[in-house]
Amino acid sequence: MFNRLRRLRINPKLRAMVQETHLKIDDFVYPLFVKFGENIRTEIKSMPDVFQLSIDEVIRECEELVNLGINSVIIFGIPETKDSVGSDALCDSGIVARAVREIKKYYPNMFVITDLCFCEYTDHGHCGILDHKHETVDNDSTLEISAQQVLVHARAGADMIAPSGMMDGIIETLRTTLDKNGFYNLPIMSYSTKFASGYYGPFRDVAESTPTFGDRRSYQMNPANRREAIEESLFDDQQNADILMVKPALAYLDIVRDIRERTLKPLAVYNVSGEYSMLKMAGKMGLIDYERVLIETMISFKRAGADIIISYHTKEIAKLIKEGKI
Ligand code: PBG
Ligand code: ZN
Repeated sequence: MFNRLRRLRINPKLRAMVQETHLKIDDFVYPLFVKFGENIRTEIKSMPDVFQLSIDEVIRECEELVNLGINSVIIFGIPETKDSVGSDALCDSGIVARAVREIKKYYPNMFVITDLCFCEYTDHGHCGILDHKHETVDNDSTLEISAQQVLVHARAGADMIAPSGMMDGIIETLRTTLDKNGFYNLPIMSYSTKFASGYYGPFRDVAESTPTFGDRRSYQMNPANRREAIEESLFDDQQNADILMVKPALAYLDIVRDIRERTLKPLAVYNVSGEYSMLKMAGKMGLIDYERVLIETMISFKRAGADIIISYHTKEIAKLIKEGKI
């Protein structure tokens, strides 16, 4: 018995020639956590090698990124003070606005994406303004302040806006606001299908954004729902989002494929904090061949249909590419 496909596998040159899925550094976006203050580079226990950085350290970090060939970042802010409406996110001297201005000043070619949400800036840790009973997020008043936030990001010089709060109508609101104010060339990457997930745990330590009460299940999605997951992304597609996203990535590759087959838009995945920490810890404990599993995992995202991968592993991937291991 001879399997025809073996003829394509035996010679390594030919094996490379028929490889269907590839990783390149331009597929990747590196998340940065910008903290108020100076000289801060704090590693968070639940995410080894991921740091809260003050703006001066962010600039230092960008130099390292550029040297590795990484030209795309997504920014999360950790402000000095939080309040009920997330005021820091609404003013031009807030942490994200200042970080974007500094990065663009020193690294004008860095593609800077801003995460647009309120959970890092509100004292209650929810992704928007609370309703009058203070029980859950009020969708429409959150849309109003999101329109203010997007202009703060746009004026600071962001290259793309990434709303992550899963508010209904957010894409239409942001698109209209940007267009009206002359920012019609500024793209929106929507966190269009975002599940209520335990995999965000380590992120909330780093971003200091754990809700003080309740959870995010009223606005984030039920992991058990496949049709709803597709519908959520298609809503944002119809509202003219430029790029769609599935988050988390690894436990939701079926959804990535489902959405890939139903839209013509580019699709991103967010390889989230819990996915990162699991792999990292298993590697540190010597339980797995870390580099091999890392590459295999990243390949699985692209094979499922993702064009863009947001990942804390981006620097490691860049090094592997430089070393010729990818
Ligand atoms: C904010 C936001 C979250 C993540 C990205 N943007 C957290 C959340 O919804 O709690 C998670 C990213 C990660 O876990 O790496 N809305
Ligand atoms: Zn949020």
